[in-house]
Amino acid sequence: MSGMKIAPSILSADFANLQKDVEITAQAGAEYLHIDIMDGHFVPNLSFGEPILKALRPHSKQIFDCHLMVDNPEDYIAILAEAGADVIGVHYEATPHIYRVLQQIKETGCKAEVVINPGTPVTVLTDLLEVVDAVLIMTVNPGFGGQKFLPGMLSKIKELNRIKKDRKLGFEIEVDGGINDKTIIECQQAGATVAVAGSFVFNSANPSATIQLLHEVTGD
Ligand code: DX5
Ligand code: ZN
Repeated sequence: MSGMKIAPSILSADFANLQKDVEITAQAGAEYLHIDIMDGHFVPNLSFGEPILKALRPHSKQIFDCHLMVDNPEDYIAILAEAGADVIGVHYEATPHIYRVLQQIKETGCKAEVVINPGTPVTVLTDLLEVVDAVLIMTVNPGFGGQKFLPGMLSKIKELNRIKKDRKLGFEIEVDGGINDKTIIECQQAGATVAVAGSFVFNSANPSATIQLLHEVTGD
């Protein structure tokens, strides 16, 4: 099994030293940088927006993986693409027009990702899988870092991976929430290919070594 791509989430980074924290993740070999954008409506928390993305872009060549936790996500696609996003993830639950928003993302040249909450079944994705570049399965309720992994989500990852294989599709399967050196292995075995990790990386004594550990335990 080839290694998983690691996406450190800057939600748990030191906001007073963001550039430094991002550079640490790049030097440690993290292929992605996960950027959680929250509006205080879709989720009960506020984080940051496009100016942070723009400010970080010159300091990293990583894949900027923007996880939009906002109402009216269609209003932010062009702005984020312009600011330097590579992947834009939109919640299935955030819009009645998910198909259109995914098309809108692809039109900007970014990779389109659909995200599902823990309470949303994989079956809603059936008619989207030919359009998307990635699916993000939330393994906690969205809104906050540092929550406990929901083991019930593993069966959803397996189900999605089975459909992916049956239909011979190539989208990434990303997991987000409660990822550590144990849960990442369970997710990998279930079929996940990209793992977001926030508090496990940035609340550790040595974030660089922690990213390397996540690579090691998943086979890199
Ligand atoms: C939660 C965010 C996550 C968060 C993960 O809504 O989407 O990306 O940063 O944090 P941990 O890894 O601490 O669960
Ligand atoms: Zn996230």
